[in-house]
Amino acid sequence: MPTPNPEALHFLQTRRSRPAKTLTTPVPDRETLLPLLTAAARTPDHGKLEPWRFIVIDKPAMGRLADIAQARGEALNLDPMQVTKGRSQFDQGHLAVVVVEVQKPSPKVPPLEQTYSAGAVCLALTNAALAAGWGANWLSGWVSHDREFMEQGFGLAENERIAGIIHIGAETSAPPERPRPDVTALTTWL
Ligand SMILES: Cc1cc2nc3c(=O)[nH]c(=O)nc-3n(C[C@H](O)[C@H](O)[C@H](O)COP(=O)(O)O)c2cc1C
Repeated sequence: MPTPNPEALHFLQTRRSRPAKTLTTPVPDRETLLPLLTAAARTPDHGKLEPWRFIVIDKPAMGRLADIAQARGEALNLDPMQVTKGRSQFDQGHLAVVVVEVQKPSPKVPPLEQTYSAGAVCLALTNAALAAGWGANWLSGWVSHDREFMEQGFGLAENERIAGIIHIGAETSAPPERPRPDVTALTTWL
């Protein structure tokens, strides 16, 4: 018979993100963040390619990134609302981890599987932060798909892109529950 871990299962069945704009200080310091990154890196990874890495954004870096987002939004002629939205996650953020997808050449592991693994790291990091008692939220926004922003803001190489920006901090309030999928309707047994 399987050996259950009811606490872990209960966590997975009730976990929910905390909206980034509700997160505040304190935030994890280097020593506190390391075990969360370690948990995130313990993610299925076909061929042990490690097709991801982390960039930590602290408060001073947030300010710089907000300015780069503003300049990029204007250069792209985006609607001013979009420009503001692009910079707001950095204006409001206190600490975030960029999960960078790093595509590795492999005769065996297709690029899509490396993308899936990077996405899994994003959820693993979000869950590790939540399990440690922090609030956490996986964000993207137009900035995270803009190649110029990736290069100017984070120095990403051609084979790299942003999988997710995981904001982590102290939670001020738990959000109301949101509707969850009807799993039975989504599941087919053959
Ligand atoms: C790839 C990805 C990108 C996301 N980007 C954003 C975003 O930019 N802004 C936002 O409000 N939510 C974004 N979300 C949604 C939140 O991370 C999260 O799914 C939502 O707050 C509820 O999550 P929960 O199931 O943990 O409660 C994104 C989710 C994913 C998977």
